[in-house]
Amino acid sequence: MPSKHLTYWLDIASLQNEDGSFSGDIWGEIDTRFSYIAICSLALLQHLGKINVEKAVEYIVSCKNLDGGFGCTPGAESHAGQIFCCVGALAITGYLDHVDKDLLGWWLCERQVKSGGLNGRPEKLPDVCYSWWVLSSLIMIDRVHWIDKKKLINFILDCQDKQNGGISDRPDDAVDVFHTYFGVAGLSLLEYPGLKAIDPAYALPVDVVNKIFLTK
Ligand code: FPP
Ligand code: ZN
Repeated sequence: MPSKHLTYWLDIASLQNEDGSFSGDIWGEIDTRFSYIAICSLALLQHLGKINVEKAVEYIVSCKNLDGGFGCTPGAESHAGQIFCCVGALAITGYLDHVDKDLLGWWLCERQVKSGGLNGRPEKLPDVCYSWWVLSSLIMIDRVHWIDKKKLINFILDCQDKQNGGISDRPDDAVDVFHTYFGVAGLSLLEYPGLKAIDPAYALPVDVVNKIFLTK
């Protein structure tokens, strides 16, 4: 009887398809979010070798667009959330050389709007959670100095509920746990004082990632 730990990688690996993509479950929907989740989880479990990494990377690269971004499937519009997934998966597997860093960096830094906040694609409203999706991607491709960090910090701080705590998607909206997490994670990437460092590819504290990979 395999241990619980062992069955996790078996389940995840079984969701890889012939073309290298991943389905989210047995019903088969395919999305680069699932590629990221599979690759990130297997890397943390130290079982990346149980999937065809080259094929997984080939599929992710097939989702790259002419604007340098990535979508959820081949030909789908570039979106900052999917870009995080694709760039994160390429960073974890060591294939970041597939990214056109200047082109993608340009697209990502254009996500910063007047208020200092970041949106997820052209003409959309800024939202605190993109402080994570966009910023982590910019850090992974070494282009974070292309945005105005001070203005983004102020935007995130403006989204706090100063009476009851928490962070919302944009100023004066209701706070929620999702945006509170990504707001704090974004502030950590921006090196805001008093916060632990967070790893841009794994979305976990750096000390946790080091503990996993440096102790065996
Ligand atoms: C709305 O997009 C979607 C989001 C705000 C989340 C985006 C994040 C991802 C796709 C990445 C998820 C990652 C994992 C690992 C599951 P929208 O463009 O429809 O709406 P908007 O106007 O609010 O930006
Ligand atoms: Zn959001």
